[in-house]
Amino acid sequence: MSRVYNFNPGPACLPEAVLREAAEEMLDCRGTGMSVMEMSHRAPAFVAILQEAEADLRALMGIPDSYAVLFLQGGASQQFAMVPMNLARNGKADYLVTGSFAQKAAEEARKYVDVRVAASGEESNFARIPDVQGLSFRPDADYVHLCLNNTIFGTRFAALPDVGDVPLVGDLSSCILSEPIDVSRYALIYAGAQKNMGVAGLTVVIVRRDLVRDDLPPQVPTMLRYSTHMKADSLYNTPPCQAIYMCGKVLRWLKGLGGLESMAGINRRKADLLYSYLDQSKVFRGTAHPDSRSMMNVTFVTGDKARDAEFVRYAEQSGLVGLKGHRAAGGMRASIYNAIPMAGVQALVDCMAAYEEAQA
Ligand SMILES: Cc1ncc(COP(=O)(O)O)c(C=O)c1O
Repeated sequence: MSRVYNFNPGPACLPEAVLREAAEEMLDCRGTGMSVMEMSHRAPAFVAILQEAEADLRALMGIPDSYAVLFLQGGASQQFAMVPMNLARNGKADYLVTGSFAQKAAEEARKYVDVRVAASGEESNFARIPDVQGLSFRPDADYVHLCLNNTIFGTRFAALPDVGDVPLVGDLSSCILSEPIDVSRYALIYAGAQKNMGVAGLTVVIVRRDLVRDDLPPQVPTMLRYSTHMKADSLYNTPPCQAIYMCGKVLRWLKGLGGLESMAGINRRKADLLYSYLDQSKVFRGTAHPDSRSMMNVTFVTGDKARDAEFVRYAEQSGLVGLKGHRAAGGMRASIYNAIPMAGVQALVDCMAAYEEAQA
């Protein structure tokens, strides 16, 4: 069977070159005579894979030495709890609620700290990111949390709020590595790997070392302490070896493309192509407010649920899959992560144009 254009939101499309390399190494990874899935996580071959992945991530994102990079499990959802468990000092945190995952993060944090919602996009059904100018945060908050790109509603922060001296925590699950960012604006970044970094099972945390503390309440489990993983260089227990290996391959692929500047240029052109089509279409319309549009998840509707479902089936017949929107948002969503080539977005636009013409 030939490959499809896969617009799934995560787990998502991987670069074909990465899949081919992994397939080639399935029986013999780096001359060990075994796959990475069969290796000890303490074997020199695997330790090298882990160290190279960290070095490549640091180089690509410009991560300062004052930050630790942790390769963890538990998904981005586990970070909803680990962040308050590890960063709470005064027992207060401010949250920007701009979508379902940001809301889940805030709800989880309520179990540990006093959460104040500093801004919410609920009034617009999360179609627009609230204006960050003039937002105020509690100066004694332990951190401010935001979700930079809202996977379900197809929105993203175009600018970061000014949080003063309060540490900023960002869920970058669906936009990490899509463009350069200034890591130093954040105290902590986390991201599930299954969208832009590789495969499910790995969550990357980038955290300012000075915020990682040992003196947490004794009931905080060992595995849920950043200090445990920082001290052990992500090898406290068995890490998600295969997922780290795949992440390493994705990072090498990105380096080969010219890094995040080059990737951002390609991503901008892909998103522009799709949004320009939507803006002139008589059948489809984008649901995110233009000033809040995501470069990674493009959400759109026809305005008629039956027609939306018909289009999703129509696109599937042309080998374009994963376009059904999330149940909380409805309609369609094209997740155009790094691994989706321009040709895939062009194929989608052509398919939408053909559908539109057939309706006329
Ligand atoms: C922005 C964002 N945050 C968090 C999550 C939850 O991630 P996980 O399934 O890895 O827990 C997702 C998953 O789609 C996401 O898109």
